[in-house]
Amino acid sequence: MKLRSVELGLPDPEAATEFMVDIWGAALAERRGDTFYLRGSGSFPYLLSLEKADGEFVRSTTFVCDEAELVTVRKRSTAAVRPVRDVVSSDPGGGRGVIVELPEGELWRFLVDATEVAPIEGRDLPVKLTHVVFNSIDAEASGHAVEDLLNFRVSDRTKGMVFVRCNDSHHSVAFARAGFASLNHIAFEMKDIDAVMRGIGRMRDAGQPPAWGPGRHGPGANVYAYYVSPFGPVIEFSTAVDKVADDHKVGAPSDWTWPSNRIDQWGVSDKDFDSLRAAEERFRFLRDEVADPVQT
Ligand SMILES: [Fe+2]
Repeated sequence: MKLRSVELGLPDPEAATEFMVDIWGAALAERRGDTFYLRGSGSFPYLLSLEKADGEFVRSTTFVCDEAELVTVRKRSTAAVRPVRDVVSSDPGGGRGVIVELPEGELWRFLVDATEVAPIEGRDLPVKLTHVVFNSIDAEASGHAVEDLLNFRVSDRTKGMVFVRCNDSHHSVAFARAGFASLNHIAFEMKDIDAVMRGIGRMRDAGQPPAWGPGRHGPGANVYAYYVSPFGPVIEFSTAVDKVADDHKVGAPSDWTWPSNRIDQWGVSDKDFDSLRAAEERFRFLRDEVADPVQT
């Protein structure tokens, strides 16, 4: 099971694409009508799709999996009476599978037979997405739901987050204890720390300092630099997230505390809580746009 892509709707995907390609470092994979598909250097046909829409929303988050994993997701979600529907993807890479609506409205799509593409060179391209974080009204319940419905595993719990894995990467998803449901941020995996730092340089050239970072997190130990993108969502350059074994001991909030003057391992940067919070509230889920998103 691998996290592949996030599909967003927003009013000006063209301007967002321009920023993502010219400054952030993604590559334009394809344009289909008013939808722009952005890729990295890796083998996924795209990592982020930007579709023209009146509002701002997350249409779906897409994972690619094998047939046995798809059977498990379909069986468990159906048994739990979650909204679930068979889908055939019309996005680049195609594939077929199911879309499941999680308890707070997130639509997660699971595809088999999705094709991949030849990797491309580019030292400043992200490789792939490394994680997506969702704000949750009840992050504990969301963590339990994805364990039960999807066979994901909680890796760690902190005061602010529930980190979840779907393979040996410490987390591909996390739920933030926010009190509301929305997209928190999308993290792009860069090749190494140098690629993260060059990204910070490109953003600085464009007049934008990080909203938080550079730094190195506790759980997962990944390097990060967070930005409020000009098109709305919080996006992150990240690298070097920990791999964990099947018997990984799930950390509790008491295992992840910081000294009073620290919120990461390095302590070299500040966090702009207010601008991050404002951006994290913007992109809600498709459920807020249409009455029955799973059947749409
Ligand atoms: Fe992150």
